[in-house]
Amino acid sequence: MKRLSLLITSCLLLMTLGCTKKESGTADTAAKTSAKKELTVGTDAAYAPFEIENADKSISGFDIEIIQAIAAKQGLTLNIVNTPWEGLFSQLESGDRDILISAITINDERKKTMDFSEPYFDAVQLIAVPNSSKVSKFDDLKKLKVGVQIGTTGDEVVTRLLGRASSNIKRFEGTPLALQELINGGVDAVVADNGVINNFFANNPKDFKVLSDTTFSKEQYGIAVKKGNTDLLKKINDGLAAIKADGTYDSIFKKYFGEKKN
Ligand code: ARG
Repeated sequence: MKRLSLLITSCLLLMTLGCTKKESGTADTAAKTSAKKELTVGTDAAYAPFEIENADKSISGFDIEIIQAIAAKQGLTLNIVNTPWEGLFSQLESGDRDILISAITINDERKKTMDFSEPYFDAVQLIAVPNSSKVSKFDDLKKLKVGVQIGTTGDEVVTRLLGRASSNIKRFEGTPLALQELINGGVDAVVADNGVINNFFANNPKDFKVLSDTTFSKEQYGIAVKKGNTDLLKKINDGLAAIKADGTYDSIFKKYFGEKKN
């Protein structure tokens, strides 16, 4: 009898090992997704103040507090993973990430490949230029070198102004690299979301100025899930509504952006 139960136990153990070991194949990925309780969140954590990687490799920022507050309301466990912006969106499709929160602007193009939560933040593009710059509006950038983060909405607006083939558009993997190039004098301007540009300006108030332009359209950030993952999307939307209703959202907003209402 003892032997039999031992046999059964070891069989079960082997079966479990067999299941968890395999990493590839869609059936296995699906099994993995439904079995795991922890949700993997992807974010390009080089986008202060929305997401930043700290010296100890922990990730913090406005987006992180928002998604954690939502998770707390909904009883979800999160594993937040720093994930490069390029290729970030495809991580949902592959099942490597369940949720993306990365100051992602909701737009029709992106809606084709992923589903977005209700908007959680209003944004607009801003232009950062050196104090001495003659630039006063977006159109003035036409003949200048402009730094953007590749594949962002900033990249989109600058591409529209300068033309896709323009060698004057300097596309960087991360926004901090584009801003560093502005400091180095390698580009004449950087176009990026207001939150990041204002944060940059707050840290470099003497040497740069920030310009807005009426031609930039309003943007809104959304939290993304795999297309068709309506269960998770509902949990996120319900959690978002709950943190907006009970003042949690407002206090996180205030912590990062001050009193001004979003
Ligand atoms: N809002 C812009 C966009 O969606 C930029 C987002 C970049 N986010 C980041 N974490 N690098 O294109």
